[in-house]
Amino acid sequence: MNSRREFLKKAALSGAGVAGAGIAGCSGQSGDPDPFARSHRQVFNMAGYAAPKLDIVRIGIVGLGNRGTGTVRRLGGIEGVEIRALCDLEPDRVKRSADLIAHLGHKPDFYSGEEDAWKRMCERNDLDLISINTPWHLHADQSVFSMQNGKHAYVELPAATTMEDCWRLVETSERNRKHCVQMSGSCSGGIAAVLLNMVREGFFGEVVHGEGCYVHTLSDFYLFDKEMYHRMWRLNENIGKSGNLYPQHGMVPIMQMMDINCGDQLDYCCSISGNDFTLNETAKRLAREDEYWEEYLDRDYRGNMNVTIFKTIKGRTIVMQHDVSSPRPRGRRMLSGTKAIYESHPDKISTFENHTGWGHYNWLTDEEFKAVAEKYSPEANNRFNDLTRAAQQIDRGGHSYYRTSPTDWRLIDCLRNGLPVDMNVYDAAASSAVTPVSIWSNANRTFVRVPDFTNGAWKTNPRGMDVKLSGGGTTRLT
Ligand SMILES: NC(=O)c1ccc[n+]([C@@H]2O[C@H](COP(=O)([O-])OP(=O)(O)OC[C@H]3O[C@@H](n4cnc5c(N)ncnc54)[C@H](O)[C@@H]3O)[C@@H](O)[C@H]2O)c1
Repeated sequence: MNSRREFLKKAALSGAGVAGAGIAGCSGQSGDPDPFARSHRQVFNMAGYAAPKLDIVRIGIVGLGNRGTGTVRRLGGIEGVEIRALCDLEPDRVKRSADLIAHLGHKPDFYSGEEDAWKRMCERNDLDLISINTPWHLHADQSVFSMQNGKHAYVELPAATTMEDCWRLVETSERNRKHCVQMSGSCSGGIAAVLLNMVREGFFGEVVHGEGCYVHTLSDFYLFDKEMYHRMWRLNENIGKSGNLYPQHGMVPIMQMMDINCGDQLDYCCSISGNDFTLNETAKRLAREDEYWEEYLDRDYRGNMNVTIFKTIKGRTIVMQHDVSSPRPRGRRMLSGTKAIYESHPDKISTFENHTGWGHYNWLTDEEFKAVAEKYSPEANNRFNDLTRAAQQIDRGGHSYYRTSPTDWRLIDCLRNGLPVDMNVYDAAASSAVTPVSIWSNANRTFVRVPDFTNGAWKTNPRGMDVKLSGGGTTRLT
């Protein structure tokens, strides 16, 4: 391997400064199609693994900002959960979160003040699960440390931002037999669960192609708001690398519908980012009024739109988009099969049966769509909706149940019933790997092979995401 390629490989593996790593003038020949090649022997297969049953799930939560405040309330409202510890760098956030769940009987200990106070929390021997809601760069370290200390990790998106960290998650989970579950962006509930059920029932025939995205505006109101994200972490993540930085919301449901890691596997991808048209312009506009923004002038900003295309081993295709800096409404999801197609926003389905010719507008009517969605609504959705309705009858003053998500409920229910979790560490790693492979592909103008975190076990792994609820479903919302 020549020295330039070796340098680029190291830069990509460390996740540092790839876009600026001397890519200008790169010809097609400089691209290494397998920069992330690595041999891995599976220590233990976490797919289908059921950890010992827990009657009570004792939880510590780290990161109590926008998302973590909601997580505290969502988890705090599930039967059999004890929130025993809360951690944030900022002491007032710990107190604020504890107040939110006091009426549900949770009396957590507080950890804060130091950068690594979360380590003391993870080292306690009376916790089963650590919920991680911190800025992206902390997720992998906090998940790995939690698993090494005997806890399951329940980590916000993305579980990792570099390829090295994706592998660390896999290896630590396998070695310690602890789950690493990504917190959301899946087929756990709503229309995504209905679609997954339809795929498995053969409604779409063979799934041929899927599209998804994270496309909506974060720019002025979020990225450039001094109060929104702790120490401006999210704007800083948009500097120095260009690719799909937040793939999970779009990618995980499509992966589940295509049985990625349990029947098919991502093979290779190609990724292109455009230039930045808005972030530097926003920094310039704001810096005219406020010198705080001067350090954000002329930075190496991520391009507005990134498009990444994957091919799976079975020959399906996936298109993922990422753009949080153009003034756009939320993007759409699409699933195309040999018998039918689905498109979101608004939800609609077309089947070959209702194609009367070569018309392009043969969508089911709203009533027909509703009937199909009801028919295929899986037991996991039905049970969760029943439990939510039942919880609404109980007057608990704080009404924390209203924020409990199907993903949280399913995880706690699986742990309490000794069942395999819906999303395992291979799902966390493969979806998080989209970020480094897209950055690499875009920077090097080349196709990139996506690593197989299952080491071949995808051919026989059981499916996750038990939407039919063949086990469990017994945990109530309180
Ligand atoms: N799944 C979803 O739909 C969804 C929605 C929103 C946010 N998120 C994710 O949630 C995570 C947090 O986002 P946010 O909007 O809440 O950010 P935020 O900045 O509001 O919160 C981050 C919190 O982490 C704390 N923190 C920082 N360093 C720490 C450390 N060393 N020890 C302990 N605490 C520390 C900060 O004080 C802050 O309270 C991100 O990964 C984000 O992508 C996911």
